[in-house]
Amino acid sequence: MFIQLHAKDFASWRIQARDMLARQIQPDCVQWMDTLASQPSLALEYDADCRLPDPPAKLRLAVPNQFLALAKRVACHASPDRWNPLYRTLWRISVEGDRSLLSKPNDPDVSALALMDKAVRRERHKMTAFVRFRRVEVSPAPPEGRESYVAWYEPVHDVLRLAAPFFRDRFASMNWSILTPRASAHWDGRELRYTEGVGRESAPRDDELETYWKSYYASIFNPARLNIRMMEREMPRRYWKNLPEADLISELAGASYGRASKMVEELEVPRSRPRPRGAPDGSEHPSCQSPDQIRWVAEDKTLEQLRDLASRCQACQLCEAATQTVWGEGPSAASLFVVGEQPGDQEDIVGQPFVGPAGQLLSEAMESVGLDRTQIYLTNAVKHFRWKPSGKRRLHQRPSPVHVASCQPWLAAELGAVRPRVVLCLGATAARAIAGRELSIEKCRGPFDDPALPYRIVFTYHPSYLLRLEDTERRARVYREFCDDLKLASALAEQ
Ligand code: URA
Repeated sequence: MFIQLHAKDFASWRIQARDMLARQIQPDCVQWMDTLASQPSLALEYDADCRLPDPPAKLRLAVPNQFLALAKRVACHASPDRWNPLYRTLWRISVEGDRSLLSKPNDPDVSALALMDKAVRRERHKMTAFVRFRRVEVSPAPPEGRESYVAWYEPVHDVLRLAAPFFRDRFASMNWSILTPRASAHWDGRELRYTEGVGRESAPRDDELETYWKSYYASIFNPARLNIRMMEREMPRRYWKNLPEADLISELAGASYGRASKMVEELEVPRSRPRPRGAPDGSEHPSCQSPDQIRWVAEDKTLEQLRDLASRCQACQLCEAATQTVWGEGPSAASLFVVGEQPGDQEDIVGQPFVGPAGQLLSEAMESVGLDRTQIYLTNAVKHFRWKPSGKRRLHQRPSPVHVASCQPWLAAELGAVRPRVVLCLGATAARAIAGRELSIEKCRGPFDDPALPYRIVFTYHPSYLLRLEDTERRARVYREFCDDLKLASALAEQ
């Protein structure tokens, strides 16, 4: 028996894949292909002589969220060959029961999917950096106070749906459309809608925003950092054609050598703000002075490279008073990823997370539930110690939402590099960094699943909270609950 199936996106592949699984059709008997423009999206073709087995009346399929999230991204890849390894992997996980398949990076299917996933994530990231909106007059005019913008973009992979929520959150107050050859996205302040793709001619080109982008780019252009090879790596030439500022690159680059030496001569010495410890003189090091720059430089880096980059981070003012950046610690393929708040006094001096009193309590609790701390990746939502002087002591201060947001791209990069199965959030700051909003630990303690995330989350108390509790009975109860949450996170990470 040989069956040909056509899918155009994740949704159409999923419907057919579920049907094939229910009928127990082995991956070897199926050939998946892209839907052609002229075909209906769900096409089932099979040898007329063969009778497909009937599916059971009720189908119960348990597919890990991690696979679903991966499949959604891989489905956006441009390769027509993405559907076959996806179905084989789904079959192996749900029919053959290999639940840990995705954590076997050397498996040919898993590594093929991982490569496509990486390319798609990268393309999504590029899209968030390179889309340029242009203002347009539309009829009927949008409500008072809203303006309309359009952008044209040609992603290599079909990442529009993956990137659109980023633009919705970032440009919530304007009406916008992003047009691409395969699909278009539209935001009107209430709803994100998708329509068919369009041609380049549908997007306007010249207007005042173009001029704005050019003058903005010229003002941030730093000749001392000019490195055309590096620039092409971060912003490949194929993206230049839709960037208004691209016209300026060669002009500014031509003038840069004279300007660079002039800048060096004019540099104020001493600098008003000291470089963070360990930062070399700097010019060839990527700058990390804002969350966007962190996102930019952190993409596709190893944990070691990230640690090095973060050691020079100046994205918020905490770097000024802290001794050093305290980076995460633990195996790079840990299945359990623990997020704390920020380094404390001792962590700031030693340069490692969770070595002070809260860390000792955490180690004790882990040991009591049989968790091996050396197998866990431990990190913090904020990587610099926030404190205020009190006599000779440095008093801990809770990081503000701005500090959490500034550091969030580092945490996201760590998560991307480690790819854990479970993220355990210790306290409200960690919960904010992972969930993106204020949460009460008392109310949300326990497991939490977001199908859009490739990991499961467990919220629990911060060990410092336990240390502050004076009522012994209450403290014993909270400690028991804390240990239960550690046990739960560990069990989920082993699933
Ligand atoms: N508290 C935290 O949240 N993290 C540490 O590293 C130490 C104390």
